[in-house]
Amino acid sequence: SFTVPETPEKPVNRPPSADSFDQFLDSLASRREHHREDLVEWLRIPSVSSDSGHVADVRRACEWVAQKFSRAGLAVQTLATEGHPMVVAKTPPVESGPVVLVYGHYDVQPAEPLEDWITGPFDPTERDGDLFARGATDDKGQVLTHIQSVCEWLSAGRSLPMQIKFLVEGEEEVGSENLERMLPDLAEELACDCVVISDSSQYADGQPAITYGLRGIATYELTVRGPSQDLHSGSFGGAVMNPAIALSKMLASMIDENGVIQIPGFYDRVVPLTDPQRKAWRELPQTDEAFAKTVGVERLFGEQGYTTDERRWARPTFDINGLTSGHQGEGVKTIIPALANAKFSFRLVPDQDPKELTEQLMAHLQAVAPIGINWKLEVDHGAPGMLAQIETPFAKAAELAIEAAFEAKPVLIREGGSIPIVTRFQEVLGCDCLLLGWGLSDDNAHSPNEKFRVEDYYRGIQASARLWNEIATQLS
Ligand code: BES
Ligand code: ZN
Repeated sequence: SFTVPETPEKPVNRPPSADSFDQFLDSLASRREHHREDLVEWLRIPSVSSDSGHVADVRRACEWVAQKFSRAGLAVQTLATEGHPMVVAKTPPVESGPVVLVYGHYDVQPAEPLEDWITGPFDPTERDGDLFARGATDDKGQVLTHIQSVCEWLSAGRSLPMQIKFLVEGEEEVGSENLERMLPDLAEELACDCVVISDSSQYADGQPAITYGLRGIATYELTVRGPSQDLHSGSFGGAVMNPAIALSKMLASMIDENGVIQIPGFYDRVVPLTDPQRKAWRELPQTDEAFAKTVGVERLFGEQGYTTDERRWARPTFDINGLTSGHQGEGVKTIIPALANAKFSFRLVPDQDPKELTEQLMAHLQAVAPIGINWKLEVDHGAPGMLAQIETPFAKAAELAIEAAFEAKPVLIREGGSIPIVTRFQEVLGCDCLLLGWGLSDDNAHSPNEKFRVEDYYRGIQASARLWNEIATQLS
């Protein structure tokens, strides 16, 4: 439970004049160094949400953003959850103006493997115009663009043409389950016409985008147990089922050589791509060769019959995220391991249901599990895929704001990653959804040497400021 603080007096609902707005944009640009310093400060806090050793750091990152809001005069509350806290902040309400909710996350993924980082993950360092740190693009750098634009707007003594609310949480990277549970009770507090999220990417360098779809996700852990302890593979090999082999077979049974998932019923609810959609995506300017190069492979691979973008954005997939069994140390150790473990996940598309997938997966594993082992499937978390409306005044406003700030017309894309809470926003808050990614696909999110281009951070701040102005114009 929480208390709603008194809100400051109501400003007038009037978009500022063109001239003074340009001056405001110039003054924003002149404060770049401060904006950069803020980001560096936030990135120094290792807010790894999945790691219990970082609980205090996660809290510090939360306090950092709460303080940023309160210094600029927003009404701020820090809400406790069963896990990490979240921050809700609001500008004053504007009579008969729209309400926008900016959502983002201050938690980050683990930084390991540390030895692959050129400079420390929590020692933000700029090289060639990129700021390297865990969380630079996912999501501190991106959500901070909106925080900066709104804080500057208020600090300049300007009245905003609408109310802007912020929800910055600390559990996105672990599935947002506490927020999901609390959302119905927060519905009034977070009521809005549109939720704006910058936690995705531009289509390519120099090609900004508006994202109208994300994939869902379902994550699992499968543990296979065989003998009560590791065995000599000479004395016992051939007499018992090897848990690593059993696990390999179970995992291999999920997908065939054409990239088609083999779980019965898996594709039943998949909404097929439409021809106009496929045609529009084929006109996007990226080639497979360039894409293969950015990820460092000789050839791309995916489900036969689909292009790379179709596979990444609109087809469901299966991936093993972690695989452990047997001897990992130096040299040879001839054993039959007692234990094998895999963490794996599926990316889902509309209208697949993660709960239904769990049932299908259980039935499939029961059918394929070899004899002579015990296995246990743990369900971690799940979220459905999302699609957003394209023809809205908010999307039109975003198009204009992005074109002005990035000097290129944004293309319409979908993306393959997941933001677990987005479909809940649509359902519970009944709002439109605008995904404006300022990152790049080679930003190394979730990987070593994560980065965010400093220029895109500044452009994001400009685009955000312009967005509030354009929304007011579109809706007036
Ligand atoms: N920023 C990503 C979501 C994203 C990734 C959107 C790529 C568009 C393109 C987000 O922070 C994220 O990584 N989410 C997790 C959720 C999961 C841990 C439940 C994901 O997609 O793996
Ligand atoms: Zn992420």
